[in-house]
Amino acid sequence: MSWGWWMAFTWGVSTSAYQIEGGVTEGGRGPSIWDTFTHEPGRVVDGSTGDVACDHWNRYGEDVELMADLGVSAYRFSVAWPRIQPDGTGPANPSGIAFYDRLTDALLEKGIDPVLTLFHWDLPQALEDRGGWRSRDTAYRFADYAGLVGAALGDRIRLWITLNEPFIHMTLGYGTGEHAPGHPYLFGALPVAHHQLLGHGLAVAALRDRGAAAVGITNNYTPVWPQGGTEADLAAAATYDALHNRLFTDPLLGRGYPEIGLDPTIVRDGDLDLIAAPLDALGVNYYNPTGIRAPSSPDSPLPFDLVPLDGYPTTGFGWPVVPDGLRELLVGLRQEYGEALPPIHVTESGCAYDGIDDPQRVAYLEGHVQAVRSAMEAGVDVRGYFVWSLLDNFEWAEGFTKRFGLVHVDFATQVRTPKTSYTWYRDLIRADR
Ligand code: NOJ
Repeated sequence: MSWGWWMAFTWGVSTSAYQIEGGVTEGGRGPSIWDTFTHEPGRVVDGSTGDVACDHWNRYGEDVELMADLGVSAYRFSVAWPRIQPDGTGPANPSGIAFYDRLTDALLEKGIDPVLTLFHWDLPQALEDRGGWRSRDTAYRFADYAGLVGAALGDRIRLWITLNEPFIHMTLGYGTGEHAPGHPYLFGALPVAHHQLLGHGLAVAALRDRGAAAVGITNNYTPVWPQGGTEADLAAAATYDALHNRLFTDPLLGRGYPEIGLDPTIVRDGDLDLIAAPLDALGVNYYNPTGIRAPSSPDSPLPFDLVPLDGYPTTGFGWPVVPDGLRELLVGLRQEYGEALPPIHVTESGCAYDGIDDPQRVAYLEGHVQAVRSAMEAGVDVRGYFVWSLLDNFEWAEGFTKRFGLVHVDFATQVRTPKTSYTWYRDLIRADR
């Protein structure tokens, strides 16, 4: 079968503000939780920060050129909330809006559709000082911010993504403390799930009020593979699935929360209706399946153990390469949610490997594109595929030690060099035209 039947399928690339922009004190930007966190010793493996990152704040024009040459039809980027509201509240900062305005117009001039994520983890520090996502108020602040960006760019953004991977932000930011804001509350982090989802629902309403063309949310999904056949292993896997996958999908699609220990008193009348507002798209980020077993000790702080999956090749991050996991999860979403499932965009798929000649990334992407195709053949409505990432960038707690880009970045000189995988992706897109 040729690629032709994927008419109007969107081929894109993804990035996020803190990971590429730099310019953290430019244009009136306020500090985010990631500025605070990265400047604390011991938080990032190589001691690096996003202060400069890919200097995209100054070099966005060059980066748009790279995308135009690549031939992508869409670019998923995020807006840094503290560029728009330096202390998390109040009117829009004109220089912050102006930057995304210029970026949006530069994309449209090249025929690239802007896909805008409102929250990719860089919460204004001032809001964290008032409780961050542990506080219900942050949901309302998020809706205000969404309204400001919606008013400024609403006429030109093709697809809005409210939140990026709320599970990962809750878990690493407030559960284990490996990401900003660095709190190790374990299950005490669960209110962060509800407040993010409430913020999402309120933001959907704010964006619709401003005439947004299409609105969605991006979740991180993982097929959960029990490692061991005891009832306890299966129960542990079901618990993990509820936490990672269902907690952030069931309420969006009108089913309310799964049983996971969320304090019901934080869910107020009307919240679930807001959260279940109809969506135009579900963003799916996939990296690998997760192996789960019953906890090895009765004293374990969690009701499951995460177990490495043996027998698979691994990326430079040590993550198992399992392309078929993407087909499994897409088909599984369709089976689970049926007609309630919005059209899917794979908003991130990619891998960390070093080197400019990167045949391993080509093989990885080939496998994952094929998995999407198989899911489509099985009846799943997938509309787009976005590679993470356009550029090597600041990989959170891993600093600059993990390179996900189709384009290599020399962080000392900011020289960008397209990798073998860039050429491969360009050819794939051309063949589909
Ligand atoms: C998902 C996150 O959205 C992104 O920020 C991150 O760089 C990639 N995963 C790779 O870890």
